[in-house]
Amino acid sequence: MEQTLLKMAEEAKKNLEEAKSLEEVNEIRVRYLGKKGELTRILRGMGDLSPEQRPRVGQVANEVRRILEAEITVRTAQIKEKIKQARLIEEKIDVTLPGTKFAIGHLHPLTRVRRQIENIFLGLGFEIAEGPEVELDYYNFEALNIPKDHPARDMQDTFFISGEILLRTHTSPVQVRTMERMVPRIPVKIIAPGKVYRRDDDATHSPMFHQVEGLVIDTRITFGDLKGVLQTFAAEMFGPSTRTRFRPSFFPFTEPSAEVDISCVMCGGRGCRVCSYSGWLEILGCGSVHPRVLEMSGYNSEEVTGFAFGMGIERIALLKYGIDDLRLFFDNDLRFLEQF
Ligand code: PHE
Repeated sequence: MEQTLLKMAEEAKKNLEEAKSLEEVNEIRVRYLGKKGELTRILRGMGDLSPEQRPRVGQVANEVRRILEAEITVRTAQIKEKIKQARLIEEKIDVTLPGTKFAIGHLHPLTRVRRQIENIFLGLGFEIAEGPEVELDYYNFEALNIPKDHPARDMQDTFFISGEILLRTHTSPVQVRTMERMVPRIPVKIIAPGKVYRRDDDATHSPMFHQVEGLVIDTRITFGDLKGVLQTFAAEMFGPSTRTRFRPSFFPFTEPSAEVDISCVMCGGRGCRVCSYSGWLEILGCGSVHPRVLEMSGYNSEEVTGFAFGMGIERIALLKYGIDDLRLFFDNDLRFLEQF
């Protein structure tokens, strides 16, 4: 029996040496050492042996199992290494192939324009102020010298939430909130970017849009300061050759009031389709802060003066990029957004 075991071991070893794949090695393991394998089969004959022979045969059997297991481990490692080497030779990596590109997003054009506007005014010494989008009638209208029955309210078709609560129709309420927070300190020099809401919806109006408000209060602030600041802004935003034009206008919270045009960004002022052959494009409303507005927020209109302006960010962006439909900003169509 001992002889049978040794013969089996020899045979198994030879098979192992000839094995070329991991599958073959595994087959050999099952064939010789498995539950129903050769070794088990031979040991079943142990019952026929004399008691003296048994320990000896048992010992040989254990030894044979140990050796074969070790051989299998070695052979497995050898084959694995061979497979690896073969792969290293076969597998050619072309490092010049283009890699996998990840799509990286970027800022929305309105965010970019807003930040550009902010940076220009930060450079001029302004600070950024904020206010709520859900606003009180008092801040949106009343404190801006627009009483309840005033026809100027018709200019801004308002979303009301309740009698006294509304969605702000402009960023001008931040003027009032800032003055209340600052009074009686000077100078006040803020811009207030943010969302505003009006019941409009067409190619040039969206029910939600963005404005940037500006407010300066100090001693001896004049309309000339306003013109200087806005001319500087226009030149920084649209290029150094941009000219500005101030047209008389009306806002209840500024006096005098003006609307500001810039020379057409498309034709430089000669006249084209974009500017309706006028050479000018309207970009904002502004004026000297009405004394009543200063007084209502606690400033002494005998001691301080100021100016204010408000511009639409969409409008600036449309002009800057030559876009003709404002709704494109809100459609979230990547074919549009990827162009910026
Ligand atoms: N709030 C005005 C508007 O939305 C713009 C404006 C702001 C005008 C400040 C004058 C001064 O139309």
